Amino acid sequence: MTLDGRVTLPDGRWHSLSSREDSRRMQEIRRLHDLVILGKHSVLRDNIRSPLRPPGLLLCRSFLPPATSRFLRGKPILFVHISLKSRAVQLQNKARLCFLSSADFEPRALLRRLERMGFRKLLFETGPAFNHILLGQGIIDRLFLTLTPFIIGQEDLPGLASGPQALPRFEQPHWTLIRWHRGSREIFLEYRRTGAL
Ligand SMILES: NC(=O)c1ccc[n+]([C@@H]2O[C@H](COP(=O)([O-])OP(=O)(O)OC[C@H]3O[C@@H](n4cnc5c(N)ncnc54)[C@H](OP(=O)(O)O)[C@@H]3O)[C@@H](O)[C@H]2O)c1
Repeated sequence: MTLDGRVTLPDGRWHSLSSREDSRRMQEIRRLHDLVILGKHSVLRDNIRSPLRPPGLLLCRSFLPPATSRFLRGKPILFVHISLKSRAVQLQNKARLCFLSSADFEPRALLRRLERMGFRKLLFETGPAFNHILLGQGIIDRLFLTLTPFIIGQEDLPGLASGPQALPRFEQPHWTLIRWHRGSREIFLEYRRTGAL
């Protein structure tokens, strides 16, 4: 996140905000989890690679990654909306495909499914819209933030959670700073949720 609270650049990407140190730190955080969950723009715009360990999961409710996507090199899991089944067949050698209904994509239903699959410690590297839903439902219990030394200043760029309404009881002190570290150009922050929604 930039100093003015943006998580997206004007061209819709975000990875160039990251330094090597930030990427290294992100790998360390990933290794503490069972699964890394991503949204479509990280794959379509940032063309990111899927982690191998822990595995990556892509939510494909309304799109499929191109067969040439770097994300598919890591043999990720794809949760694909059932309406995309016939088109997804071409990806079956490149990913583990699971077909879901619209209701299955609701966050609580996703968590139950992932638990049944043996994934408990989930790391969401999703964008503002999905983060807003997760935070609004009280699903997130840790936040890892990197404060990067940029000020973009464009008013319509989102922050880490962005939705139609303010989050419930946002004025309560839900988040407690439990760790911080000063890097060579960034500050790394870790918060724990201490209040129930
Ligand atoms: N700075 C950062 O750390 C950071 C991290 C991630 C992303 N970003 C930026 O944020 C922007 C958006 O990225 P994003 O696509 O990863 O995140 P997003 O806009 O929050 O997208 C949410 C993703 O979750 C899917 N989804 C599944 N179930 C859903 C549900 N019940 N409700 C809503 N969405 C659901 C969406 O699928 P459908 O759209 O197919 O329905 C979409 O793939 C991009 O510009 C990206 O560069 C920044």
